Amino acid sequence: MVGTQWGDEGKGKFTDLLSKEASMVVRYQGGHNAGHTIVVDGEKFAIQLVPSGVLYDHITPVIGNGVVVDPFVLLREIDMLTRRGIDCTRLKLSGNAHLILSYHQELDALHERHLGKAKLGTTKRGIGPAYADKSMRVGIRVQDLLDENIFREKLHASLAHTNKVLTKVFNRLPVDPDQLADKVLTECLSQLRPYIADSVNLIHDALDAGQHVLFEGAQATFLDLDHGTYPFVTSSNPIAGGACAGAGIGPKDINRVVGIAKAYVTRVGSGPFPTELFDQDGDRIVDIGREYGTNTGRRRRPGWFDAVMLRHAGRVNGLTELAITKLDVFDTFDTVKLCVGYEIDGQRVDRLPYHQSELHRARPVYEEFPGWNTDLTAVTEKAQLHPNAASFLNAIEERVQVPVTLASTGPGRDQFLHWTQT
Ligand code: IMP
Repeated sequence: MVGTQWGDEGKGKFTDLLSKEASMVVRYQGGHNAGHTIVVDGEKFAIQLVPSGVLYDHITPVIGNGVVVDPFVLLREIDMLTRRGIDCTRLKLSGNAHLILSYHQELDALHERHLGKAKLGTTKRGIGPAYADKSMRVGIRVQDLLDENIFREKLHASLAHTNKVLTKVFNRLPVDPDQLADKVLTECLSQLRPYIADSVNLIHDALDAGQHVLFEGAQATFLDLDHGTYPFVTSSNPIAGGACAGAGIGPKDINRVVGIAKAYVTRVGSGPFPTELFDQDGDRIVDIGREYGTNTGRRRRPGWFDAVMLRHAGRVNGLTELAITKLDVFDTFDTVKLCVGYEIDGQRVDRLPYHQSELHRARPVYEEFPGWNTDLTAVTEKAQLHPNAASFLNAIEERVQVPVTLASTGPGRDQFLHWTQT
């Protein structure tokens, strides 16, 4: 299951729904930059690291090797869920996942400040610096915690470089590796130990036993390090292929790829956004859709649904189906728009331009649809859907060339309907 826009598509809701058919839910990239909101029986759960499937008793939630984990955040989240009656004892944490430590977060904030106006608008959770250490091969893995000598040795080696950056580039105080090691080992290790596992073999054992495993992408296609609007992207691969590297499975293990898209688009942070709205329609989308970050509280940038982006997302993910969220946000709109192409330097273009400066100049070409002026929040059957809303869904399906199988009509677990059957 992957996000097909710039994140915040409402993936948590559909992971929760698709979890019903699975016995395992695996996160394969990202970290606590993600924020999944799930509403169960009117109770809202905001989860950042633990896979959303944790809310089901029959699911083994797995944090895969491709995830970057702040151990303090993970323990806080487990504690919060446990206090609210959710059993987290089935959680598995890959020994190969990399750690986010305090200096990664400090570096993230420093890099952003250093960039000034060119800042990326990161979540400042230390994601980029942790993945940078992983690529530089000075990262620290969860399994390193299990051997104190190795952990201290690696922390010393990693900080030898990082402390030079902190002190000489950013004029900050160095981090004492032993103090940090003491803190992590005393405050986290004994609590984390029961969760640490060989996630790759666990996942394959489940697949070999014929069980369904759901791979839950965080962030989204256009925040992908390779396929997103670089450099305004995250530092991992949220696309479906990322599940192979980030969980240790082969492409042939994947037989269904569900893309999640909102009925409109939002983006947080900087970067190009062809259908962005700066008018009252945009304000209404933000107000009605409550488009403020679960994680950072930032106001999201709103825009109309972009079928050009979605077609591209269909290709790079190999989408077999689409799930549309937040259709009900348009319940009081007189007109709803769908971007079906771009005009770039006077030319009509139907594909996402590979050159990003063209994307900055792209003017959306819209198809307009009459609104439905009806409350959709109680609609759970295809036949009950207002014909104008149905036309909008049909147009999305036709323009994106991927079948829409599900559409959500409200935040609750049961507020959705099945659309085209695949
Ligand atoms: P980072 O992932 O914190 O490094 O941030 C890089 C970019 O990805 C920024 O534009 C963030 O706003 C965006 N981003 C990261 N995680 C999410 C998410 O879960 N939803 C939406 N945007 C995100």
